[in-house]
Amino acid sequence: MTFPQHRLRRLRSSSPLRRLVAETSLSKDDLVAPLFIREGITEPQEIHSLPGVFQHSRESLIKEIEELCELGIPGIVLFGIPEKKDPTGSESWNPKGIVQEAVRDCKRTAGADLVVIADLCVDEYTDHGHCGVVNDDGTINNDETLKLYRKIAQSQAEAGADIIAPSGMMDGQVAAIRTALDEMNFQQTPILSYSAKYASGLYGPFRDAVNISLENSDRKSYQQDWRNAREALTEIRADLSEGADMIMVKPAVTYLDIISKAREITDVPIAAYHVSGEYAMIKAASQQGWIDGDQVALEQLTAIKRAGANFILTYHAKEAAKIL
Ligand code: PBG
Repeated sequence: MTFPQHRLRRLRSSSPLRRLVAETSLSKDDLVAPLFIREGITEPQEIHSLPGVFQHSRESLIKEIEELCELGIPGIVLFGIPEKKDPTGSESWNPKGIVQEAVRDCKRTAGADLVVIADLCVDEYTDHGHCGVVNDDGTINNDETLKLYRKIAQSQAEAGADIIAPSGMMDGQVAAIRTALDEMNFQQTPILSYSAKYASGLYGPFRDAVNISLENSDRKSYQQDWRNAREALTEIRADLSEGADMIMVKPAVTYLDIISKAREITDVPIAAYHVSGEYAMIKAASQQGWIDGDQVALEQLTAIKRAGANFILTYHAKEAAKIL
């Protein structure tokens, strides 16, 4: 018997033939490495729930940047961990704050060879760990938070950030930041908005990485409900109308449907964040010998591209670049 599927089978017969007919390709050009810079440390500290990922000192960050450039990775996204945290996260807009210093260090080291994306949020800087100003009743004050985001955007752009990436899911954050940047003559600085960001359990290891414990609260009042797909498109359309140059879906593998739907409604570049928990699961199972970690990582990163993402923020960036 011959079956119509035999045509597919014939095209799977050798590795070079599979390469020729592959629909999707993953390359190091698709990778952005998330990096953590911690104020007040002299030695890098490995994050226990993210094996192979470190809280960097200013010195070790520079070494890491040199290595990433050598590997040809085009971008990084920076998260800062300040020594002192307060209710508004005031270190986040300090012109001499840890992230601003780190942006300058990265630009000095890599110059035009590397795109430095500054994550814009206050959660790493607030003592309560929320992404905005918290009212007395525990709710988040959206509009007061926007005022802080404006100052952060300006300080990050002044430090030399190539892209500003607001991740706090406040309404109107893209418009507020766009205006703030334009006022300071940063019309050329693009905004990558974390538009569709779900209230995911997969951010757990990230909270270890930036020393946050949310204790008895969560972010479900401002991040998206994982049961909903359509609202992601509303969020994306809103960010585009406010002037987002690129949008992001986060996490990635659990939200491939969202990436694919986003691809249908917009022509702007789509980023996907393969988040800390996604990385940690692969690492943990691989350390047990239960899965081949490299293979699963490449499979997931490729699937994210297949769904329609243009590039991926991933803790696998370095190892993936070495394999590719
Ligand atoms: C918020 C932010 C978070 C992550 C990136 N930006 C955490 C959160 O919203 O709880 C998570 C990334 C990851 O898990 O790798 N500033």
